[in-house]
Amino acid sequence: MLKTVKSLLQEVADFTPKSEKEIEDFRLKFLGKKGKMNEIFVAFKSIPNESKKKIGQEINTLKQNAQAKVDEYKGCFEIADATAEIDFTRPVVLDSLGSIHPISLVRNQIVDVFNRVGFTTSEGPEIEDDWHNFSALNLPKEHPARDMQDTFFIQTNPDILLRTHTSSVQVRYMNDNKPPIRTISAGRVYRNESISARAHCIFHQVEGLYIDESVSFADLKQLLLYFAKEMFGEKTKIRLRPSYFPFTEPSAEVDVSCNICNSRGCNVCKNTGYLEILGCGMVDPAVLDNCGIDSKKYTGFAFGMGIERISMLKYGVNDLRLFFENDMRFLKQFSSL
Ligand code: PHE
Repeated sequence: MLKTVKSLLQEVADFTPKSEKEIEDFRLKFLGKKGKMNEIFVAFKSIPNESKKKIGQEINTLKQNAQAKVDEYKGCFEIADATAEIDFTRPVVLDSLGSIHPISLVRNQIVDVFNRVGFTTSEGPEIEDDWHNFSALNLPKEHPARDMQDTFFIQTNPDILLRTHTSSVQVRYMNDNKPPIRTISAGRVYRNESISARAHCIFHQVEGLYIDESVSFADLKQLLLYFAKEMFGEKTKIRLRPSYFPFTEPSAEVDVSCNICNSRGCNVCKNTGYLEILGCGMVDPAVLDNCGIDSKKYTGFAFGMGIERISMLKYGVNDLRLFFENDMRFLKQFSSL
C-alpha cells in the first residue's frame, strides 16, 4: 500500500494543469466521492496496526498535497477560457474622456499670457473680510461705490462676505510682499445679481497688479495691448475710456476691436466696432499706504477682467449661463482646444 501512496504522491507533484477542466478532473480523481483518497481510506482500515502510523502520515500528506494543487490552480484559467471566445478584431468602443471646462481653459490662457512676461500667480480665500475686499481698497464703510458690487454677507456678520472681486487677493499680496510686485490672481467671485444672459451671481475674474519705482500709465497700456493681441489675434486694437474705480486713479475701461466684423459694426459690438473687456488704472496711493507700501517711492497699476466675458468674446458665446449648466453638447465643443 505504501508503494501505491508513494506513486500517487509523485503523480500529484508532477501534475501541471492546462485548463480548468483538467483541474476539475484531477479533483474528482483524488478528492471526489469515488476518488483515490476514499479508496485509500477504506483500504487503510484493514492494514496491520503496526504499519498504520507510518502509512497514515503519508496518506495525510497525499491528501493535503492534492488539495493544495487544486487550490493553487482553481480559477486560474477562467479568464483565458473566457477570452478564447472574444473576437479581438471587433472595433473598440472607447470610454468618452472628459475635457477641460471652457472657463478653466480661458483662465489658463490668460494666466499664461501674463506668466510669460514675469507675472507670478497668487491665490486668496473666497470668504473674505471687509478690510481685504473693501476698506483697504479705498472703500470705507458707507462709501457709495460699495453699491457697485452687490455683496453676499455670511450669515448676519457684516464683516464676513463672499469676495466680490479678486482685488482682495492683491491686498493680501501687497501686505505680504515688498515691491517690485508683479502678480496675477484668478478665481471665483460672487455678486448678488439676478441671473441673465449677461450676468450671474457667481463668475470668475483675473486681476493683475504691478508695483515698482516709476511704473507709468504707458506701461499699463503697453501690457494691455500685448495681452489683447495674444488673446484675440495680432490685428487687435485697444481703446481706453476714462472710468471710475475707488482703488485706482486715474481709471479706465478697456475695449478691444471687434474681430467679428473687423470693427465695421455688427450686432455683437452694437455697431460701435469695439467690445469692453476690462477695468484698470494706476493704484490709488491711499491703497498702497493701506497695504504697507510707501506711495512716495512706488507707483503701480492694476487691472481686472471677467473670464466669462473674455470667453464669450473669444468663442462667440451669447449666453453666460451656458458656462454653468454643464450641458455636454456645449462643453464638447471645447474638447479639442
Ligand atoms: N476690481 C474691479 C472689479 O471687479 C476691476 C478692476 C481691477 C478695476 C483693478 C480696476 C483695477 O470690477
